[in-house]
Amino acid sequence: MTMGQTDLFSAAGEGAPDADAATRRAVRAAAAEGLLRADKRLPAWLLYDARGSALFEEITELPEYYPTRTERAILAAHAGEMIEAAGLPVAVAELGAGTASKTRLLLAALLERQPRAVYVPIDVSPTALAIAEHALARFAGLAVHPMVGRYPEDLAVLDAIPGRRLLLFLGSNLGNYDPQPAAALLAAVRSHLRPGDAFLIGTDLRKAGGVLVPAYDDAAGVTARFNKNVLVRLNRELGADFDPQAFRHLVRWNSAASRVELYLQSARDQQVHLRALDAAVRFTAGERIHTESSYKFTRAGLRALFRGAGFRWERSWEDPRRWFAMHLLRVPARALR
Ligand code: AVJ
Repeated sequence: MTMGQTDLFSAAGEGAPDADAATRRAVRAAAAEGLLRADKRLPAWLLYDARGSALFEEITELPEYYPTRTERAILAAHAGEMIEAAGLPVAVAELGAGTASKTRLLLAALLERQPRAVYVPIDVSPTALAIAEHALARFAGLAVHPMVGRYPEDLAVLDAIPGRRLLLFLGSNLGNYDPQPAAALLAAVRSHLRPGDAFLIGTDLRKAGGVLVPAYDDAAGVTARFNKNVLVRLNRELGADFDPQAFRHLVRWNSAASRVELYLQSARDQQVHLRALDAAVRFTAGERIHTESSYKFTRAGLRALFRGAGFRWERSWEDPRRWFAMHLLRVPARALR
């Protein structure tokens, strides 16, 4: 069955301008689950409200933060090959599209080979999507259908896209997920794709801690502001009374787990109220909230992860320093054994 795109896309909530009811519930649930426990933690997606997304854009331009410019260089060198490897004609969708600044390289390469194309950017941030949509307006022949959503919860939006799909998951966004959720996410992605569909994923690779830590603890303090912004968000959305100045941005390279860890560390004994939860949270001096992990992958680990999720690996591209890798995966006609 084929259905009109506009019907399907608007039914799924195209371009919802504000934090919807589902997001508000998810924020509450995340704070309740993450802060009313001994080892305090908040999910990384909470960092990406409008201000957090803008601060992340600033991070991508920091001298210490190499992933974005490295992935962009790989795309600049190989976008045409990637598109041809995916197979034409193809419709493009993207998880965690943000402002889609790197994606433009792929879309330009696609439109050189295929005069009309569909692009469905999916992101938690409506403001980032609005920027993406505005920037892509000058791409003649491109039909852009932004979707506010999270994954894996909202992956069903992919089902409505007809024909062969190329799904993008760039920026090492996979690195935010612990190993089990990462495997589950890839399996869920796989289950919403069809045989012959392609999946292009960008992954940051394991490297020396001396390169990794400054990338998340920059001299200008932008990442510290990005991290503390989650407290500002909880103040606004849950009526909390966090004092961001009473928390310190802390970055650790956990070599055993192969991840960079971001924390907010309480500078003193303090108590914070969360009005929407009708709860108080105590912090002792030095106590941490784990706010984000950024896993750094090995090639062997990635191959196993992709295969375990039912994808066939076809090709990878890396930068000359071999700091970052992009992989083209295929949904096979029959399940892998
Ligand atoms: C968007 C998850 C890829 O882990 O490098 C950057 C997020 N946080 N600096 C990363 C991030 C702080 C980023 N990802």
